[in-house]
Amino acid sequence: MDASIIVYLIVISILLSFTPSTAEPLAPAFFVIGDSSVDSGTNNFLGTFARADHPPYGRDFDTHQPTGRFSNGRIPVDFLALRLGLPFVPSYLGQNGAVEDMIHGVNYASAGAGIIASSGSELGQHISFTQQIQQFTDTFQQFILTMGEDNATTLISNSILYISIGINDYIHYYLLNVSNVNNLYLPWHFNQFLASSLRRELKNLYNLNVRKIVVMGLAPIGCAPHYLWEYGTDNGECVEQINDMAIEFNFLMRHIVEKLAEELRDANIIFCDVYEGSMDILKNHDQYGFNITSEACCGFGKYKGWFMCLSPEMACSNASNYIWWDQFHPTDTVNAILADNIWNGQHTKMCYPMHLQDMVIQKAK
Ligand SMILES: *[C@@H]1O[C@H](CO)[C@@H](O)[C@H](O)[C@H]1NC(C)=O
Ligand SMILES: *[C@@H]1O[C@H](CO)[C@@H](O)[C@H](O)[C@H]1NC(C)=O
Ligand SMILES: *[C@@H]1O[C@H](CO)[C@@H](O)[C@H](O)[C@H]1NC(C)=O
Ligand SMILES: *[C@@H]1O[C@H](CO)[C@@H](O)[C@H](O)[C@H]1NC(C)=O
Repeated sequence: MDASIIVYLIVISILLSFTPSTAEPLAPAFFVIGDSSVDSGTNNFLGTFARADHPPYGRDFDTHQPTGRFSNGRIPVDFLALRLGLPFVPSYLGQNGAVEDMIHGVNYASAGAGIIASSGSELGQHISFTQQIQQFTDTFQQFILTMGEDNATTLISNSILYISIGINDYIHYYLLNVSNVNNLYLPWHFNQFLASSLRRELKNLYNLNVRKIVVMGLAPIGCAPHYLWEYGTDNGECVEQINDMAIEFNFLMRHIVEKLAEELRDANIIFCDVYEGSMDILKNHDQYGFNITSEACCGFGKYKGWFMCLSPEMACSNASNYIWWDQFHPTDTVNAILADNIWNGQHTKMCYPMHLQDMVIQKAK
C-alpha cells in the first residue's frame, strides 16, 4: 500500500472513532435486580462484609478502579447494557435520585441478597429481593411524576428487567441449616418454595406493567473455589450435592417461567440457564483459552477458596487464563461469554424460549 492510502485510512479510522453513536438504543432502559452476580455498587453504601469496593476488584474494569462489582472487570449486565445501546446502569444507592440519571435504567442488586429476606444476613446489611422491587416501584413513581403516567408506563413496558437471584438462599440459608431448615424442608420442597416466591414477584412486576423480563438461573456454585476448599475436593471436582440443588432450581424455574409466559400473553419472559452456559465453559475451557479452572485468581488457602479476596497481594498477576476471580465469582472473561449467550446464544444456547436479542428486536406481541 502506498503511504498516502495508509494516512488516509488512519484519518478515516480516527474520524470514525470520534463519531458519536447515533444508533437508537434497542430498549429505553435496563433495570437490574439481584445479588452479587450483578451488584454494581449497592453494597458500597451498606454495613456488610460483602463488599467489592477495594482493590484488586475492578482492576480490569474500564476505569481500572473498584466499583463494587464482584469481578476483576465487567459483570454480565455491563456487556448487555452495551448490546442494548445503553450506558452502564448506575446503582440505585450510588446516584442522587434525579430522573435524568435513572432514565436509562437502574441497578438495585445487592450482594448477599436472596429470595428469602433473611438469606445472607450473617454477612451484614443487604437490600433484599422484596426491597429491591420496592425501590424499582419507587423509581417508576418518580418517572410518573416527571413524565406523566402514559409516558412512564410506555417506558417501563418497553424496558428490560433482568433478575439474577437465588443462589444465596442456598449458600447462606439452606447449606447453613438456618432455622433448622434442613429438617423442615427437603431440598426439593425448599426449591419449590423459592421458585413459587419468585413467580409471585414476577406477577407483581407484570402488574406494574413490566413486559420484558430476563430470569437468570443459578450458576454451578458447587464448582466455586470456596466449596472445593470447604468440601476438600482433591483435583478440583465440583461438589455434586450443591450443584444438584442449582440444577433442580433451574429445572423448576424454567418450567415456571414457561407457564407464566403462556398465562401472561402480552409479556416476554425468558429464562437463561447460566448453569448450562458455565458448565460449557468449564468443560471446554481449552477452547475458551482458560487453563486455570478450579483455583481463583484472588483469595487465600487451597483453590484460593478459604478466604475472601481482600488485597492486591492476594491476587494472581493476570486473570485472563482464570475462570474464577474470587472464591465465588467468575472473571470478566467468563462474564463476557455468558453475556454473549444471553444476547444471542453465541457460544452455547442457554436462554429459553428465545434470546434477549430476539426479545428486543421483535415487534410488540
Ligand atoms: C410524553 O411524551 C410525549 C411524546 O413523546 C411528549 O410530547 C410529552 O411532552 C410527554 N409528556 C410529559 C408529561 O413529559
Ligand atoms: C439442622 O439444625 C437442627 C437444629 O437446629 C439439627 O437438629 C439438624 O440435625 C440440622 N440438620 C443438618 C442436616 O445438619
Ligand atoms: C496457563 O497458560 C499461560 C499462558 O497461556 C501459562 O503462562 C501458564 O503457565 C499456564 N498455567 C497453567 C497452570 O497451566
Ligand atoms: C494478560 O494476558 C493476556 C494473554 O495471556 C494478555 O493479552 C493481556 O494483555 C494480559 N493482561 C494484563 C493486564 O497484563
